[in-house]
Amino acid sequence: MKVLLFGGAGYIGTHVALAFLERNDTVGIFDNLSSGLRSNVDEHCQFYEGDILNRERVREVLSEGWDAVVHLAAFKAAGESMLKPFKYSENNITGSLVLITECVRAEVKNFILSSSAAVYGEPTYLPVDEKHPTNPTNYYGYTKLCIEENLKWYSKLKEFNYVALRYFNAAGYDGDGRMMGLENNPANLIPVVMEVAAGLRPNMLVFGKDYDTVDGTGVRDYVHVTDLAKGHLLAADYLLENHKNLVVNLGSEYGLSVQQILDTAREITGKEIDAQYVERRPGDPAKLVASSTLAKKELGWEAEYSSVESIVASTWKVYQANTKNTTINS
Ligand code: WQD
Repeated sequence: MKVLLFGGAGYIGTHVALAFLERNDTVGIFDNLSSGLRSNVDEHCQFYEGDILNRERVREVLSEGWDAVVHLAAFKAAGESMLKPFKYSENNITGSLVLITECVRAEVKNFILSSSAAVYGEPTYLPVDEKHPTNPTNYYGYTKLCIEENLKWYSKLKEFNYVALRYFNAAGYDGDGRMMGLENNPANLIPVVMEVAAGLRPNMLVFGKDYDTVDGTGVRDYVHVTDLAKGHLLAADYLLENHKNLVVNLGSEYGLSVQQILDTAREITGKEIDAQYVERRPGDPAKLVASSTLAKKELGWEAEYSSVESIVASTWKVYQANTKNTTINS
């Protein structure tokens, strides 16, 4: 299979590329390197530098002929999306429409979207399945839902099918150390914890300790990026075999609290990890955990690497490797 990954030089894209390469698929990486790293791109991939807003460039690369595309080129910081909506509407909505329309024009009929649990907003029941209402509480979540809706329409109007993969909390790193790139200035919990453990950040804040959860801190469904990557392979096969659409959650179905992540990180790293308990972060639900019944039924997918130990240990290995040679005062 020939597959083109838009945003393929990023954290998730790199792991997805590795998964396709492992089964000898032909992989193209299209990335503007605004956050992805050229060094993340495996030598066996064909790299195309470009921006999804550059219609001519997208058209040029798509004209090479692809069996499927994977769209991972959206901005993903929920908090930032509320402060910089133009950045998110331009890239996530307009940019995605360029991809969708150019795929239809180039007769690339199989489209895999990196979507997000953020489309659900505040959960009204748990675990969250795909029938759960979609009421995003941040603009980022809305942009993902908007892209899904456009995919649904284009699939009605043209010969075009898609799978939307609603990731829960992506975490962890490739167990064989094939991906060593760190995210710049992360906001997500696990990289923040790792930065404190590695001495890249003096301390961290725990947003809320008064939730109705096991220990008062927020609970999320962390899913290992290797599990996520496998979901993309299965989605591509599903499209080529069935020519049908599918919207599906990818989550471990296992909730972990901030405190549990912190305690595991202290145990695995042997570091103190200075954390201060502060007020809740606006817009945060207490608990968000996926039902992955549909992914198992339709794709044969289930999380295998998403234990808290695997997620924390694989991430710590990468942070240690990246900070081994830095002196304390550097
Ligand atoms: C997890 C938990 C925080 C940082 C976001 C996006 C979502 C998706 C995944 C892309 C929460 C707590 C965090 C910190 C903390 N992105 N926390 N201190 O908010 O569940 O989801 O990333 O698809 O769309 O919204 O992830 O890692 O920010 O937070 O206490 O410094 O950790 O309150 O309970 P979140 P997160």
